[in-house]
Amino acid sequence: MNAVLKPLDFSFRPMSDADLDAVIGIERTAYPYPWTLGNFRDSLASGYACWLAEIDGKPAGYWIMMLAADEGHILNCCVAPAWQGRGFGRLLVEHLIETARGHHTDVLFLEVRPSNTAAVFLYQRLGFETIALRRGYYPADQGAEDALVMRMRLQP
Ligand SMILES: CC(C)(COP(=O)(O)OP(=O)(O)OC[C@H]1O[C@@H](n2cnc3c(N)ncnc32)[C@H](O)[C@@H]1OP(=O)(O)O)[C@@H](O)C(=O)NCCC(=O)NCCS
Repeated sequence: MNAVLKPLDFSFRPMSDADLDAVIGIERTAYPYPWTLGNFRDSLASGYACWLAEIDGKPAGYWIMMLAADEGHILNCCVAPAWQGRGFGRLLVEHLIETARGHHTDVLFLEVRPSNTAAVFLYQRLGFETIALRRGYYPADQGAEDALVMRMRLQP
């Protein structure tokens, strides 16, 4: 008998404190050096743009961006490991870019580990370019890892 595959219900909603147990659960499985609960609480309290992605009503990813004047700084963007590699990362970053455009943001910045091939590739595909290297920016098993600084101009 052939299985009938139901399309996934994918949606975004603003993150709230009530989501943080689920969010920190994803964070700890997705990153070798995860944010703390306090980092998420502070982001919400600071009024950063914090959005949760849900698949069939369950948290599956999130992104966090600081919007200041005409600049946006992407602070976190994450898809739960179980859902990675299926196009949801691209949907998260596209949603983030549309949100920034809605705030009349001119330019977006982010930092990413050069070893994070999936993220670097995703950002490049969506139009980010590498503009600088921050030496020893991230903690790593062997001392520290550099960060690529990437930028995307939203306005001509
Ligand atoms: C980075 C991340 C968000 C990507 O999400 P994802 O859902 O796996 O990505 P997608 O399936 O949407 O893939 C996006 C693109 O990247 C490519 N890609 C995905 N994984 C890849 C990998 N391991 N190596 C190379 N390319 C990869 C896909 O082919 C796709 O390209 P396409 O649109 O041309 O087909 C996800 O891996 C993640 O959450 N990682 C942990 C948190 C993290 O590192 N966040 C970034 C911090 S800066």
